[in-house]
Amino acid sequence: MPSRYARLDRFLCQQLSLNRKAVQQLLAARRVRVDGDVARDGQAMIGPFSVVLCDEQVLQANTARYLMLNTPAGIVSATRDARHTTVIDLLTTEPHADLHIAGRLDFNSTGLVLLTNDGRWSRQLSAPENNIRKRYRVTLEKPLTQDYVHAFAEGMFFDFEGITTRPAELVIVSDHVADVWLVEGRYHQIKRMFGRFRNKVLALHRSAIGALELDPALAPGESRRVSPSEILAANPTFSPHKVC
Ligand code: URA
Repeated sequence: MPSRYARLDRFLCQQLSLNRKAVQQLLAARRVRVDGDVARDGQAMIGPFSVVLCDEQVLQANTARYLMLNTPAGIVSATRDARHTTVIDLLTTEPHADLHIAGRLDFNSTGLVLLTNDGRWSRQLSAPENNIRKRYRVTLEKPLTQDYVHAFAEGMFFDFEGITTRPAELVIVSDHVADVWLVEGRYHQIKRMFGRFRNKVLALHRSAIGALELDPALAPGESRRVSPSEILAANPTFSPHKVC
């Protein structure tokens, strides 16, 4: 399945093994339909979920799929791993060959992982300019103080990447528990930020991406489809399946 947008004439050349001229003739003869409408313009863009027919032959008809998973600890956020169970292995009832992960979690972190075959949605979820916040419930070894709130809001310089983390919101829930909102996902970011205070993260659970909340009815290891309103809750600027 093409994951990006493509020109209709190029798509037809490739799918039907025809040259440009033959494709133009097909279009002029009104033999091609895109999403139910006759397509005449070869330069029009089609997406991975456009339904394309030539006469009665279906050339492309993919459905966009969006899933949420309540990831247990000890699961690899990857599509394949030789030694450990992956998030994909947990999707027992779903065909998964075309799915990818929209935002990984560390091996010992738990909670919300989104999976999709829609590359545009997943790219937008992690695009820095979209400022999509992810919420983590963090349990710590030592008690929290207001200093943490200020340090997270100001950002911390990470030597290795040579960057300062973007402002993060930290809300103290109790002595050893905080909610942290991040708009980025640097390597082990939360653990490293608490590491500055020599405070060990004992548990890290992602509970929301944007306004999309992990369904509390999902037991660890369970997944379900994400509804159309939840797709938009995660990224309100997303326009489902429109050609861009
Ligand atoms: N920060 C971490 O340190 N780990 C995660 O899994 C997510 C954010």
